[in-house]
Amino acid sequence: MAANKSLLILPGDGIGPEGMAEVRKVINWMDKRRAVTFDVAEDLVGGASYDKHGVPITDKVMESALSRACVLFGAVGGPTYDKLPFDKRPERALLRLRKDMDLFANLRPAVCFEALVEASSLKPELVAGLDIMIVRELTGGVYFGTPRGIETLPDGQRRGVNTQVYTTSEIHRVAAVAFELARKRRNKVTSLEKNNVMESGILWKEEVTKLHAEKYSDVQLEHMLADNGAMQLVRNPKQFDVMVTDNLFGDMLSDEAAMLTGSLGMLPSASLGAPDATGRRLAMYEPIHGSAPDIAGKGVANPIASLMSFAMALRYSFDLQDDADLVEKGIKNVLAAGYRTPDIMQPGKTKVGTVQMGELLIKELDKLAA
Ligand code: IPM
Ligand code: MG
Repeated sequence: MAANKSLLILPGDGIGPEGMAEVRKVINWMDKRRAVTFDVAEDLVGGASYDKHGVPITDKVMESALSRACVLFGAVGGPTYDKLPFDKRPERALLRLRKDMDLFANLRPAVCFEALVEASSLKPELVAGLDIMIVRELTGGVYFGTPRGIETLPDGQRRGVNTQVYTTSEIHRVAAVAFELARKRRNKVTSLEKNNVMESGILWKEEVTKLHAEKYSDVQLEHMLADNGAMQLVRNPKQFDVMVTDNLFGDMLSDEAAMLTGSLGMLPSASLGAPDATGRRLAMYEPIHGSAPDIAGKGVANPIASLMSFAMALRYSFDLQDDADLVEKGIKNVLAAGYRTPDIMQPGKTKVGTVQMGELLIKELDKLAA
């Protein structure tokens, strides 16, 4: 078990703080009922940080993030910040956290909750029981490659440049995470790139193949072009177990996969760094839904993605498997009892708000732990 149970909560903007407030309740519940004590700090990020400090994340917050066992991140961004210069935009905070903490492996589960099979845009039989883990490379590729920028050419035209770039070690470390996860699941990895048009895709495929032969030949490995992968996800998503891909393809494929579970408001993510000599690995946990400015402040946001993110933190940063199971089971039971936030509302169910959903979970945890 990790000795250091310190957390940094960065609620951010929009519905981020609303979800995190419910996470706080579970943290307090664990303090009282499970005798697990967390040392919790909270700070500003994104637009909230910009409003107070003029930057989306301060060096002080960055230092705190690096010194704590993990970060729980809410969401950033909103229409008031859309016109800010690039380096002041709320999203830059997210990208700096990822880069400075070296969180190269982004785990995005796409799980179809039994209670929500009907909420998917796909036919129920295609998504019932769906359980995919997308492993997205998070600190390389076109998001960070150089050269980058916008320049004005001598003839007055403008030219925008970004660079897709990967090295052997960047590919190996993220692929290793995918293979290790597959071993604990259904033992299959699908690696996605565009080797038909991109040299970085050729390298990606060759290096994943090499690593597989060297260390993970017991895992089933399949290669797929990323565009075909996008199509296969809506054609027959259950063919996938673990999918591993680069930063940009992973951004798109994980949104697609999340949506087809019908549970966009419920899916968490984990971003992990490499373990150091003591086994300590920096990590950040984040609901994938974003700041949702259209519903912010109305008390209707679904807190489940934030709560599931906390469960992932219990699992991956604190090795508290039983507690993670408990939180996940509590959430499933509340859904099974028919409670729904508006985003997942169905006929015949009971509509509840953010706070009520959190309170229902606490009551359920009381029952489960009794
Ligand atoms: C995500 C988001 C971010 C990304 C944005 C907000 C920078 O879309 O986490 O998927 O593109 O990585
Ligand atoms: Mg995205």
